[in-house]
Amino acid sequence: MRISVMGCGHVGLVVAACLAKLGNKVTVVDIDEQKIAQLNRKVCPVYEEDAAEILAEVDIEATSDHHRMSGSDIIYICVDTPSKADGSISLEHITGATKQIASILKQKKGHCIIAVKSTVIPGTTEDVVIPILETSGKVAGRDFGVCMTPEFLREGKGISDFMHPDRIVIGEYDRSSGDMLCNLYHTFDAPVVRVNLKTAEMIKYASNVFLTTKVSFINEIGNICKQLGIDTYEVAKGMGYDERIGHKFLNAGIGFAGPCLLKDLKALIAGANQLGYEPRLLEEVLSLNEQQVLKLVELLRKHIPLEGSSVGILGLSYKPMTDDIKDSLAIDIANTLLKEGAVLKAYDPQAMPNFEILFPQIEYATPEEVLKCDAIIILTEWEEFERLNYRGKIVIDGRRVLKAQEAMIYEGVCW
Ligand SMILES: NC(=O)c1ccc[n+]([C@@H]2O[C@H](COP(=O)([O-])OP(=O)(O)OC[C@H]3O[C@@H](n4cnc5c(N)ncnc54)[C@H](O)[C@@H]3O)[C@@H](O)[C@H]2O)c1
Repeated sequence: MRISVMGCGHVGLVVAACLAKLGNKVTVVDIDEQKIAQLNRKVCPVYEEDAAEILAEVDIEATSDHHRMSGSDIIYICVDTPSKADGSISLEHITGATKQIASILKQKKGHCIIAVKSTVIPGTTEDVVIPILETSGKVAGRDFGVCMTPEFLREGKGISDFMHPDRIVIGEYDRSSGDMLCNLYHTFDAPVVRVNLKTAEMIKYASNVFLTTKVSFINEIGNICKQLGIDTYEVAKGMGYDERIGHKFLNAGIGFAGPCLLKDLKALIAGANQLGYEPRLLEEVLSLNEQQVLKLVELLRKHIPLEGSSVGILGLSYKPMTDDIKDSLAIDIANTLLKEGAVLKAYDPQAMPNFEILFPQIEYATPEEVLKCDAIIILTEWEEFERLNYRGKIVIDGRRVLKAQEAMIYEGVCW
């Protein structure tokens, strides 16, 4: 099939690479000329496991000219939906991309499906995307098809998650578009959930927000455990064997972050508020998470005066295996420590260039140099942090790096 993907960030790049690998003819369109130039040089614009190898293998057309999508059978919308100050999402890029698609539909002869993959609040595809597409003079469900098929990949593991999904959700405006997407994904061994557009949008939010609830829950248990001298990780291990609970997302620490979990939780709260409903559980999940990160700073203050001390930061990305620092907890912590007069030295295997744009005043160094600071804080559980020598150091661990327990003074946030 001829497939176009609008937006070649973490999601669009993975979708494009995987669909090209499955034998489709793929065009990616992005407004970021630098990303397009990188893709045309076969350079992967984001850090994503196995993506560079696939890009080297397949032939993808990368362009900033949206007219190149005019021959497509399916156009995926994978543009970003960032948080606004009130927690709701900005639809600026969704509407921008949709207007470009509408201008193509106006001229287009053959049938085409528009598939929204960006995470959008329930009702957006029906109330925002379709009306813009219909400014083309064409009618949804008759002249073109519309689907909303949310993406559940984890950044860094996106290729593997896309190729081996645990479920595929297809929200369909018209049955035949849903059939076509089912056919496109027919090689995947995963249950397919076919629903209406709004339900598909909600499945994505409900899934991510459930994960945030699990994290805030175990952090709350962890805060109680810490007071009682109980190791929360042993408690979580004992809980997780219960099939109704499971082990995943029971890692207590400084909380969840990043461009998906945090953004989606805030957006669903804002969306519910707009409906006049107060989502008290979700608000508490968010509030607990905001307090959790400060616990690490409190523990640090217990061991060293912040003013004038050097603090080494291990981990800047919002989670391991990515260079993404959007909504990373390291941003809040660095701001707090700098305000308190600490001198910061930081290391991250992938995210230092991105962090340096926001924090040029921080010294970026090797892990060995970072370990020479008066105290060290661990903010991301990169595997390589299990191989450092922490002996003789003061370490405050936000992520449970076992090797760090050999430090002279070691404290975990919830253990
Ligand atoms: N990152 C994840 O792990 C993940 C997982 C599941 C879902 N999502 C959702 O998928 C969407 C995309 O996320 P992302 O992480 O890939 O974002 P991203 O910021 O990494 O990439 C978005 C890309 O869209 C481009 N863009 C913006 N407007 C455009 C336009 N008019 N035409 C073409 N390109 C345009 C941007 O230049 C950028 O390259 C978001 O809604 C996000 O919530 C993200």
